[in-house]
Amino acid sequence: MNLDALKATAMTMVGDGKGILAADESTPTIGKRFETINTESTEESRRRYREMFFTSEGANNYIGGVILFDETLRQSTSDGMPFPKFLDDLGIVPGIKVDTGAKPLAGHNGETVTEGLDGLRDRLAEYYSLGARFAKWRAVINIDDVLPSDFCIKANAHALARYSALCQEQNIVPIVEPEVLMDGGHSIERCEEVTNKVLKTVFKELQEHAVNLEGIVLKPNMIISGAKANNRANSNTVAEATIRCLKENVPESVPGIAFLSGGQSSEEATEHLDLMNKMGDIPWELSFSYGRALQASPLNIWSGSEDNFSAGQQAFLKRAKLNSLAHAGEYQKEMED
Ligand code: 13P
Repeated sequence: MNLDALKATAMTMVGDGKGILAADESTPTIGKRFETINTESTEESRRRYREMFFTSEGANNYIGGVILFDETLRQSTSDGMPFPKFLDDLGIVPGIKVDTGAKPLAGHNGETVTEGLDGLRDRLAEYYSLGARFAKWRAVINIDDVLPSDFCIKANAHALARYSALCQEQNIVPIVEPEVLMDGGHSIERCEEVTNKVLKTVFKELQEHAVNLEGIVLKPNMIISGAKANNRANSNTVAEATIRCLKENVPESVPGIAFLSGGQSSEEATEHLDLMNKMGDIPWELSFSYGRALQASPLNIWSGSEDNFSAGQQAFLKRAKLNSLAHAGEYQKEMED
């Protein structure tokens, strides 16, 4: 393991006001997104859609890494330049989703465990040769009146740690993503309680698997009310609870934390990140790794039409820039207009 290289990669991804574009939707998931804009999902329409983001001029001022799906890592720009090389030339680190999805956890109704460890060492070696320098693995934790079980948390944390150790062995920075879902009617306090337990378990497993925390990026959920909760906590409460939970659980040796958006609106996701960075005294780079919160407006504007390609790029650049400002704590709501 080359720790200096891992640290440098992590800082390129989330240092210097930059964040990550999560564009690693699996083929079924991107198909669902395309259905909302009445666009057929084909290899070429998916390629062109991703190209819209990658070729947005100036995106590299705000974006330090892009998470790709296997298919996209092997695709090229319309001019024939492989996407990983195109991104790397812009100073954007190409990354790859390596888990194979959350599958039902046997014996535990309503819970999942993320799969993809078998053969992972060889897959990582191939991805490295194709230009990937970081990877992503997403664990999914569901909240209801009784869930999650301790066993589900442990099984997912164990898999995250095994994945992380393999990544570092192959000189790939692992994005460690334990997502506590926002689905449901739970309170913000319940989200904090569960996320505390999840992060404690994840860092214990990372330590036991000899993962070097200086060479990872954590991708957590924010501490937020369930999407269907009655009295949803306001933005300041979200920011304060999230920082409290992270400070309790995330060692300062972790170089960067990049949030997922998890179903928040684009504006909420930006505002929450900004409020946290405005609080100051944050020991990590506190950034974004948004999928929906970066893609929602460009997706709708593009709507599968070449005529809207550059308008889609402008919409993406706007969100990327506002999130970069939020990383610095310099965003203001009026900038949305
Ligand atoms: P969202 O920001 O849409 O939650 O996606 C981020 C991601 O990569 C989920 O794994």
